[in-house]
Amino acid sequence: MVRNSREEWKVYQKVFDKFTNRLLFKLSSQGHFDELTQTISPGKEAVVFAASKGEDTVAVKIYRLETAGFSKMFSYIRVDPRYQDLKNRARQVIFAWVEREYRNLLLAREAGLRVPMPIVHKDHVLVMEHVGFSHAAPLLKDAPPDDPEKFAAECFEMVAKFKKAGYVHGDLSEYNILNDNEEPVFIDFSHSISVKAPNSQELYDRDMKTLTRYFTRLGVEGLP
Ligand SMILES: Nc1ncnc2c1ncn2[C@@H]1O[C@H](COP(=O)(O)OP(=O)(O)OP(=O)(O)O)[C@@H](O)[C@H]1O
Ligand SMILES: [Mg+2]
Repeated sequence: MVRNSREEWKVYQKVFDKFTNRLLFKLSSQGHFDELTQTISPGKEAVVFAASKGEDTVAVKIYRLETAGFSKMFSYIRVDPRYQDLKNRARQVIFAWVEREYRNLLLAREAGLRVPMPIVHKDHVLVMEHVGFSHAAPLLKDAPPDDPEKFAAECFEMVAKFKKAGYVHGDLSEYNILNDNEEPVFIDFSHSISVKAPNSQELYDRDMKTLTRYFTRLGVEGLP
């Protein structure tokens, strides 16, 4: 299914268990993508792949059922007013986590942020727009902007827009922002939460602090 080296294949064997293969087959037969073509990121919690869809490319994020830290996920998601009734069962928590990420991406999109358009989610798999041209856009940490002032201003504007819409990202850093041709794209919305949640202020402050620290290092002055 994935055109990888033997070594890489070994690493991903666990990701492609029977249950996951069946799910990918289903999503593919529904026309969401043709086949996985490349690994973008072999993360601890989730693996992100590029997949072909006709002439297009989409991104497929598959959470690792075997290692996803669902107890930590549970502690984060249970304070979200949308998931107050969620039971502490591994798969349910992971599936809810993915659903929440999908919903958050949609909310961010509606609020006017530059984020990958979510396409579909099912169980532990999320399909979304692939950011970048022939290759996935690099992370900000690997591709600092040519104009840090402008880039920083756009990031803070997105944070403000999302807050105005009633949400905070909650895990913002140079590791979760793509530099797409000198335009910031926020990704990884699995921590985003309503400003009504008890921990939202703490998450917001942390996001602001992390961004400020990063852009100050690049020499940007007078940040919020
Ligand atoms: N839509 C996308 N288009 C292009 N690249 C993407 C997209 N989504 C994710 N990526 C790439 O995959 C990487 C991991 O994605 P993400 O941050 O959403 O997962 P993660 O939850 O941090 O995974 P882990 O915690 O396991 O590392 C990103 O750093 C980015 O390089
Ligand atoms: Mg991430």
